[in-house]
Amino acid sequence: MSVSDLVQLCRLDEVPDGEGRTIDYEGTAYAVFNLEGEFFVLQDQCTHGPGSLGEGIVEDGEVECDFHNGRFKIATGEPTAPPCVAPVAMWEVTLRDGAVWIDPKAALVSGIDF
Ligand code: FES
Repeated sequence: MSVSDLVQLCRLDEVPDGEGRTIDYEGTAYAVFNLEGEFFVLQDQCTHGPGSLGEGIVEDGEVECDFHNGRFKIATGEPTAPPCVAPVAMWEVTLRDGAVWIDPKAALVSGIDF
């Protein structure tokens, strides 16, 4: 990953501790989470359906989809509760200049089709 591939998704202060936010970047929705100052970026769309993970409930390091209450571990993108069975894509996060940056082309886990 070269620094020039990184894009800024949001400022750190846009995502309060213990919460997530949906951030749109060039037509793709990302879910950005802040867990005690550690930031994670997952695909926003739940792998079970149309739920938005950035709008889900964050609890114990997991996010609960508000559509059918499936859950994912935020640090890995792995599903932890049915009906979700497929992981969500996630991206390596770089914190720079008070903001969250990712390389959109370098998902660490391949989730649903983009
Ligand atoms: S859409 Fe997320 S649990 Fe069904």
